[in-house]
Amino acid sequence: LVAGIDSSTQSCKVVIRDAETGKLVRQGRASHPDGTEVHPDAWWTALQQAIDEAGGLDDVAAASVAGQQHGMVVLDSDGEVVRPALLWNDTRSAGAAADLIDELGGGDKGRRAWVDAVGIVPVASFTLTKLRWLARNEPENAARVAAVCLPHDWLTWKLSGARGLDTLRTDRSDASGTLYWSAATNEYRHDLLELGFGRRIAVPEVLGPTGIAGTLPNGAPLGPGAGDNAAAGLGAGALPGDVVISIGTSGTVFVSSDVSPDDPSGAVSGFADTTGRFLPIVVTLNAARVLDAATKLLGVDHEELSRLALSAPAGADGLVLIPYLEGERTPNRPNATGAIHGLTLRTSDPAHLARAAVEGMLCALADGLDALVARGATANRIVLVGGGARSEAVRKIAPALFGLPVLVPPPGEYVADGAARQAAWVAVGGDAPPTWSAEAPEVYEDTSVPLIREQYAAARDAVIDRVSR
Ligand code: XUL
Repeated sequence: LVAGIDSSTQSCKVVIRDAETGKLVRQGRASHPDGTEVHPDAWWTALQQAIDEAGGLDDVAAASVAGQQHGMVVLDSDGEVVRPALLWNDTRSAGAAADLIDELGGGDKGRRAWVDAVGIVPVASFTLTKLRWLARNEPENAARVAAVCLPHDWLTWKLSGARGLDTLRTDRSDASGTLYWSAATNEYRHDLLELGFGRRIAVPEVLGPTGIAGTLPNGAPLGPGAGDNAAAGLGAGALPGDVVISIGTSGTVFVSSDVSPDDPSGAVSGFADTTGRFLPIVVTLNAARVLDAATKLLGVDHEELSRLALSAPAGADGLVLIPYLEGERTPNRPNATGAIHGLTLRTSDPAHLARAAVEGMLCALADGLDALVARGATANRIVLVGGGARSEAVRKIAPALFGLPVLVPPPGEYVADGAARQAAWVAVGGDAPPTWSAEAPEVYEDTSVPLIREQYAAARDAVIDRVSR
């Protein structure tokens, strides 16, 4: 047996699977507080509850932890957490991100310098911007920091008994979202860490795909773990040319690739995957929660939202919902707000609004897909995962907006499953993760809906023009 763990923004999931067949044997889940600033102890408590619910880890041969990316976990020299972690969805460091671009030359030159150095361009989500914010705004806390790590690194470390800071470990996929590690060279840029934070501090050792990060109390190895997106790719069984689009708290669009996207605009980040390759990725801040917001606006549940959306015409007679409800990261407009365009007497009804919400959310992700393809990614099919993929309206409308067939695997814990598959790879060995048989996905292929992208693009550009960066 192997265990896969997903410590996400809201909860912790544990799956225990047969290492050879992938059969699900036991599982557990526990919630923890979400938000944009959370003490790591809350994740640890939830992890222990989820492990208990899954019947413990005494009989597993290996385990791996995947987790929300980028969160700044700062530790003092005794290994104590200095302050609550600032998470990927915390935008207070947007100014720090802009400053870091300025400090490498500003504008296009600064963005190009960051891409050349670490494959990504600073935005508020990435860890180094949070360290800069800490150095500038909480000098007393900053002075106590001896090491920085990421949520999944910290949980792996806790599971392995958390000894010295020199036993912290991470993996390529999560390290590639920090701004101080390069997926192209597989090396830290301690100079950039120093530029951002003001001094050098300890960082976890970065392991390869089957490196061993520690051991469980029963002596079983802990795999390197992964960022949640890279893990989801592994867990959903994405093949080359399968672009994974995940509609969760964040919206993500990514594909495993031999080359880094090299995108100085910052729209496509050059992360690493879990197999030694790259993971070009576009991330939006507004995905499943756009649907949640629409259910609240309309006073309906998700099923009814879907039914309403499918009852309205494609394009909602010109009603467009721009989904930047929490600011946006791609395009990088941390201060943007959402908007509704094209409200007329004809479009003022729940069905049109429901349709506009589903289409707006999907169009923002389709923009991401366009950006990925523009940077050289091969896109043959879409693998649609995440809570938002449970909506029938989303599944049916998606192929037209993405212009590609959409595969929806059965609902599952893809991040935890990816971690479990990595753990099986660690336990079983070999050049590639073991192949597990999976239930066939549902396939949606109707790509024949016209014009919605154009009307969305016009409304989006009107909104973006009004919002300063
Ligand atoms: C990726 C990102 C999010 C988090 C969500 O860059 O910020 O997808 O990983 O957990």
